[in-house]
This record gives sequence, structure tokens and C-alpha cells, in this order.
Amino acid sequence: MENEKATPPYLEVNGLVKWFGADRAVDNISFGVERGKFLTLLGPSGCGKTTTLMSIAGLHGIDGGDIRVGDVTYTSFSKKLFLPPEKRDIGMVFQSYAIWPHMTVAQNVAYPLEIRKIDRAEIDSRVADVLRLVGLGDMADKLATQLSGGQQQRAALARAIVSRPRLLLFDEPLSNLDLKLREQMRVELKRIQNEVGITSVYVTHDQSEALVMSDEIIVMSKGRIEQKGGPHEIYAHPVNRYVSNFIGVANLLEGHVIRVTSPGHGEFEVNHGNERVILPCCLGEGLKEGAAAVLSVRPENVEARRKDPGTPRLEGEVLEAIFLGNCVDCRVRWGAFEWKVLAHPRDRLRPGERVFLHLDPDHSLAVQP
Ligand SMILES: Nc1ncnc2c1ncn2[C@@H]1O[C@H](COP(=O)(O)OP(=O)(O)O)[C@@H](O)[C@H]1O
Ligand SMILES: [Mg+2]
Repeated sequence: MENEKATPPYLEVNGLVKWFGADRAVDNISFGVERGKFLTLLGPSGCGKTTTLMSIAGLHGIDGGDIRVGDVTYTSFSKKLFLPPEKRDIGMVFQSYAIWPHMTVAQNVAYPLEIRKIDRAEIDSRVADVLRLVGLGDMADKLATQLSGGQQQRAALARAIVSRPRLLLFDEPLSNLDLKLREQMRVELKRIQNEVGITSVYVTHDQSEALVMSDEIIVMSKGRIEQKGGPHEIYAHPVNRYVSNFIGVANLLEGHVIRVTSPGHGEFEVNHGNERVILPCCLGEGLKEGAAAVLSVRPENVEARRKDPGTPRLEGEVLEAIFLGNCVDCRVRWGAFEWKVLAHPRDRLRPGERVFLHLDPDHSLAVQP
């Protein structure tokens, strides 16, 4: 479109810094979220996810940067602006369900509307709508304590969205649920967010949760952003070893880029005993000839064959082959390195067998170490 201008993102966090004593919990991070989108902050415990979320919510001051939603400045360190949390119009869902046990489900959900002094009929109809949306249509008159964990979390979500806030913030909301329910709730929560269209920031340490739910993912480490991108992009094109290792499973080989053959393509050299093996690969950003790098190959992109392919020859021994029905999860010893390989069941790989590993150069990615 000709007239389309680059519009600024709906939520913008710019240069956010937060110290706790001598600890820099958040170290100068910047990101934006488009209106209606679902962004996930992903990283291990202690990397600064909750601190970032609390900074957006205004539950603490910050030590640098700005936070803006639409045309409202929430916090600006340089301009000494701080909008109190109750004026930020944010819905929040936490790990602990935080719904009031002495109230019914409907009363819990109605509360944010009551403090806004909306009239009774409107409240009742909106509460009924939102309870239906989260699948609690027939639970309205139950006491909150009569609900299961999953239902309590649905009620907390209903309460967070009923006033149609500008922003939804989630801090590991599913981590108290058991695996089965968690997997079901991921999909459900994403569906509901999509339906109400409220811009959301979601915090989790669970990479599969992030992959399933997000429009965009930010991978964090030690208060910094390692990478931002869509789930597929982060999985298929991690920028470095850290991201590759944190998202999904990867074979990570240390070595060097020895040749750039065309833009984005080259050859990777890895030591194997006294031998040097050269593997054609894709090149991640910023990798020049001679650069130390890590070759990242997902197990589903490694094939174990019985026929000798010539070069490059990666001959190994199957150590373990676990039949999982639709695939076989294998470990293959190759000198000091152990490959993770997802094989097809029809190949019937067995422990002790000699195999030749074939790597698809299009799915072998050299990245920053
Ligand atoms: N209230 C606090 N007081 C002191 N240190 C804190 C406080 N909250 C967080 N931290 C520290 O800040 C860092 C980031 O924490 P947090 O944002 O909670 O990480 P995450 O949510 O990613 O697990 C950690 O080192 C943590 O110990
Ligand atoms: Mg946290």
C-alpha cells in the first residue's frame, strides 16, 4: 500500500533499566508490541521477565527508559513521569489465582466494572458474556473456592478482560496447573485473547508454551534481549547458541566458518578426532570467514542412513533408539560428540548399528557462539 506509514507500536518499551540494589535486573531493553498482538517474554528464572512486566504495570519505579501505551506515557525516567498503576487500565493474570474466595464467580468477575460505576444491567450482561467466553457460563453462582485450579484461572482471566483494558499482562499463569491442563489451557487462552483482541504481554520460562501461544517471542538472558521474532523464526533461525539451546532441541557443534560460498551460505569446519570435517551450511547474521561459530542442527533435520554417502562422511554408532510411535528418538555417537536424531520408524534403527549421518545444508545453521 502506497500511503502506509510505519506506525509506532501500540506498546513501546524503550531503554528500560531496573536495578535491585547492586543487581541490574533489567539491562536496557527495548521492544514494541503491535495492537492486538500477543508477545511473550521467554527466559530462565531470574532473567528479568517479571521485573519487565511489573515495570509496565507500574508496580515499581524504573531506573531508566520510557514506557508508553497508545498515546499515554506510563513511565518516563528522563521526564520524571509516573502514571499510578490504577490509572494504567491494565488487566493482569498471575500464577496464583488471586480470586476472592468469599465471592461467587460472577461477583469476582463483576468487581472491575463495579469500581468503574457501570450500571447493573450492563455489568450483568458483560459478566455473562465474558464467563461464556472463558467456558464458565454455568459456574456464575458458584463460590470461587468450589472451582478447580483451571477454572479459577479462567475466572481470573475473565476478571482481567471484563473491563476491556488497554493491555493484558500474564505472569506464568499456567505454571500451577498439571501438564495436561496446561497444554489445553495454552490453546484456549490464546483463542480467548485472539477473540477479545487485547494487546498482551505474557511471561513464561516454558519454551513450548511460548511457541504455541505467541505472535512474537522475546528470548531474554540476564536482563537483556537475545532475540525477538515470530515462533517459527526463533526456532528455525536462532541468532546464537543460547537461543538455539533454549528453544527446542538442537545439536550444537563447535567449529569455524571456513568459507562463505554465497550470501548466507558457506562451509563449517569441525574437528573430529584428528580429522577435520567440512559441512556445507547456512550462515547466521554477522558470521564472516574464519569466525568461530556453533553449528545448530535440529534432530528432525539429521538423517541416519545405512549407505556410505562419501563426503562428508559422518559415521557413528546408534547408542539408543527410543520408539515413540510416530518417530524414533536416537542418540548416535560420533567420536566425542553425541548426535540427537529423530528417525522415521520405518528405518528401524537399533542400538549398536553403524550409521551415516546426513545433514541437510539448508537446515544446518552456523550461529554466533
Ligand atoms: N523485589 C526484588 N528485590 C531484589 N531483587 C529482586 C526483586 N525482584 C527481582 N529481583 C532480582 O532481579 C532479577 C530478575 O528477577 P525477575 O524479574 O523476577 O526474573 P524472572 O521473572 O525472569 O524469573 C533476579 O536476579 C531477582 O533476584
Ligand atoms: Mg518471574
